[in-house]
Amino acid sequence: MYIILISVHGLIRGHNLELGRDADTGGQTKYVVELARALAEHPDVSRVDLLTRQIIDPKVASDYSVSLEALTPKAYIVRLPFGPRRYLRKEVLWPYLDSMADQALQHIRSIGRVPDIIHSHYADAGYVGARLASLLGVPLVHTGHSLGREKRRRLLDQGVSSHTIETQYNMTRRIEAEEAAMDVASLVIASTRQEVEKQYSQYANYQPRNMQVIPPGTDLSRFHPPRGSIADTPLRHKLNRFLRDTAKPMVLAISRADERKNIHTLLRAYGENSELRQRANLVIIAGNRDDITQLDRGPRTVLTNLLLLIDKYDLYGHVAYPKDHHSNDIPELYRLAARSHGIFVNPALTEPFGLTLIEAAASGLPIIATEDGGPHDIVDHCKNGLLIDPLDADALGEVILSALNDRQRWRTWASNGIKGAHRHYSWQSHVTSYLKAVRRLLGQSSRARMIRPAKSRLPTIERMVVCDIDNTLLGDDAALAELVSKINSDTALGFGVATGRHLSSALNILAENSVPVPDVLITSVGTEIHYGKQLRSDTDWQRHIDYRWERDRLEDLLDGVPGLRLQPKENQRRHKLSYYIDPDKSPPIREIVRHLRQHNLTANLVYSHQAYLDLLPIRASKGQAVRYLAAKWGLPPRCILVAGDSGNDIEMLRGDTLGVVVGNYSPELRHLHGEPQIYFAHGHYARGILEGLEHYAFLVEQTK
Ligand code: GLC
Ligand code: MG
Repeated sequence: MYIILISVHGLIRGHNLELGRDADTGGQTKYVVELARALAEHPDVSRVDLLTRQIIDPKVASDYSVSLEALTPKAYIVRLPFGPRRYLRKEVLWPYLDSMADQALQHIRSIGRVPDIIHSHYADAGYVGARLASLLGVPLVHTGHSLGREKRRRLLDQGVSSHTIETQYNMTRRIEAEEAAMDVASLVIASTRQEVEKQYSQYANYQPRNMQVIPPGTDLSRFHPPRGSIADTPLRHKLNRFLRDTAKPMVLAISRADERKNIHTLLRAYGENSELRQRANLVIIAGNRDDITQLDRGPRTVLTNLLLLIDKYDLYGHVAYPKDHHSNDIPELYRLAARSHGIFVNPALTEPFGLTLIEAAASGLPIIATEDGGPHDIVDHCKNGLLIDPLDADALGEVILSALNDRQRWRTWASNGIKGAHRHYSWQSHVTSYLKAVRRLLGQSSRARMIRPAKSRLPTIERMVVCDIDNTLLGDDAALAELVSKINSDTALGFGVATGRHLSSALNILAENSVPVPDVLITSVGTEIHYGKQLRSDTDWQRHIDYRWERDRLEDLLDGVPGLRLQPKENQRRHKLSYYIDPDKSPPIREIVRHLRQHNLTANLVYSHQAYLDLLPIRASKGQAVRYLAAKWGLPPRCILVAGDSGNDIEMLRGDTLGVVVGNYSPELRHLHGEPQIYFAHGHYARGILEGLEHYAFLVEQTK
C-alpha cells in the first residue's frame, strides 16, 4: 500500500518537534509524524508520504525548507512549495490550498504511482484531500483533530462575537472544508466515541456508519509500573515538604491550572470527607508557576481558589501542591503513587481524550475519571477504575475512599491498566485497526487510470490555452481574429475550450465565429470531454465523474423549489442538471446544498451570471476537467492559461493554472480579486485574453 497523509499547517519535522511553540504546532503535528512512522513499519505498507507546506523563513529553522526528509526508509515528509514562502498561521492559508492540491498532483506524477489511500488531517488538509481524492478516484480517509462547529460553539459560549470568530478564525471557510471532507471521505477516524456522538454529529454530512474510533497511539516507553526502588527525584523532595505522613496512599491529579479541569471539586471532595483525609494524601500537580499574581486571569483564579480551599478545610500536612516540576519527573510520580497503592483522579468537566489516564494506566495506577469525554473509552477498554460525575463532590470522595479500601479490586485494576494501555493505546495497535479499516475501502471506488507517468497523448504540446466561449472568446471579433492567429502560429501551444454549452452547440457557435476546432473541447460545464478533429469522447472521464451521481433523485428533490425552473431539454445532459434561477425568489445556494445533504444527496452546484444553476457530479466541473487533462497529458497546471468570465469558470481559475478574468466579468467572480495567480484584465472578451497572454508572457517567453 502507498499511503499519502496530508497535514498542512504548523512546523513538521522528524526530530525535536517544537510542540507548543505556537498554536499550530502541537498534538496534531506529533500525531501525524508518529502515524507516518508507525504505518511504514507495517509489512503491508510500501511507502508513506506526509505532505505538508514548505517554509522558507529565517524566523524558523531551515529544516522546514527541505523538500524531502526521510523519517524511515519507507516514510517521508514531502514539503510542497505553495503560497508565500514565509511561515503563516493556519487561518490565512486558505487561498493557497488549491495550489497545494496541484503541487500534490505533481508529486504523485513524479513518484509515478497513484496512492491507495489519501488521509487528510484537519479542515485545511480535508479541503486538499477531498479535491485530490475526487480527481484520482482514491478513497479519502479524514481525521478532524478538532472541529470548527464545536470550536465556534465554545467561543460563542465564552462571549466572543460572531464577527470576531469570522475575521480571526475564518470559521465559515473551515466548517465548509470539514463538510466537504466528510462528504467525500469513505472513512472518518476519531479518537473517542464522544467526539463522534457530540461533535461530528453537528455536521450536515455526519455519516456515523463511515466513522470509526481508533485512539491515537501513545509513547508508553517512559511509563511502566514500579519495579525495585523508586528513583529519588527532586519532585519527591518537594512533595515531602508538604506532607506529614509520606507513607499514606497518594491521591494524584495532574493537569493544567484550567477552570475546566475542575481541580476545586477534587479539593472539596477531599476536604469534606474526614475519613478520606485520614486515609490518604492529596497531590496536585497543576503546572509550573513563579508568582501566581503575575499569571493570566484563568490560572490565577484556579490557583488562588486552590490555596483558599486548602486554608478553608485546614489541609496543611495533607495536600502537596508543588510550585514547579520537570516533565521528566512525571513518570516517577505515577510510579510513586502506584507504589503507595494510591489512585489517579481526573475530575475535568470534560476531557477530550485523557492522555494522563493512559499514562497512569501504563504505570499500574488505577484511575477515577470524569464521565464526560474520552475517559469513557479508556475505562471501557482497560477496566482499570471508575467514572464519576465531575459536579458531585460528595460522591467523588466516597468513590475514592472505597477504591483505596478494596485492596483486591485495586490490584485487579492496576494489572488491567498495564495490559489495557499496551493493547489499546500503542501505535502498533492503532496501525492494526487502521489497516483493517482501510483494507475494506480498497477497490471500492473506481480508481482513475489517469496518471500515466511516461507518455503524454499529445507529445508536441508544451503549453495550453483553455478559454470559456460565451462572453470570453466571443464578443469582440477583431480581438478574436488576432487571438486565433496567435494560437495558430505557435505549434507547441495547445488550444482548448471549456463551456457550459453542449458539444454541437459549442461547435456551431465556434464555426459561426471562424474559430478552428480546438484540440480539446470541455463541454456541458466540464462533464464531457472531446478530443481533436474526430471529436473522440473521453469515456474514462464519464466513468470517473459518475461517482455518487443520482440525477433523477436530484431532479425530484428540487421539484417545486421556488425560484428554480428547469432549462430546456437540450441543455439537460447525463451529468448536468440545469435550471434557470431567480436569486430573489430562490433560497440561498447554501440552503439548497443543505437540503440535498439532508436527503443524502450530493452534487457540485455551480451558479453563473445570476441566472443559471447547474448541478454536476461532485467530481465534475470545468476546473476538475482541466486538471484531469493536465494529469493525463503530463502538463503541469502552471503551463495552462485559462480564461473565463463567470461562475462556472471559478474552479479552473483557481490554483496553479494561470488565470485570466476578462474585463467584462460577471459579479460572482468579484471575490477572486487578490487571489494568487488570477489576473484581472482590463480588456473585454478576447482582448482580455490577449492581455492575459502578455501578462504571463505566455507566448513570448517560452517560444523559441
Ligand atoms: C450555458 C449552458 C447552460 C448553463 C450555463 C451556465 O449557457 O447552456 O445550460 O446553465 O451555461 O453554466
Ligand atoms: Mg462565459
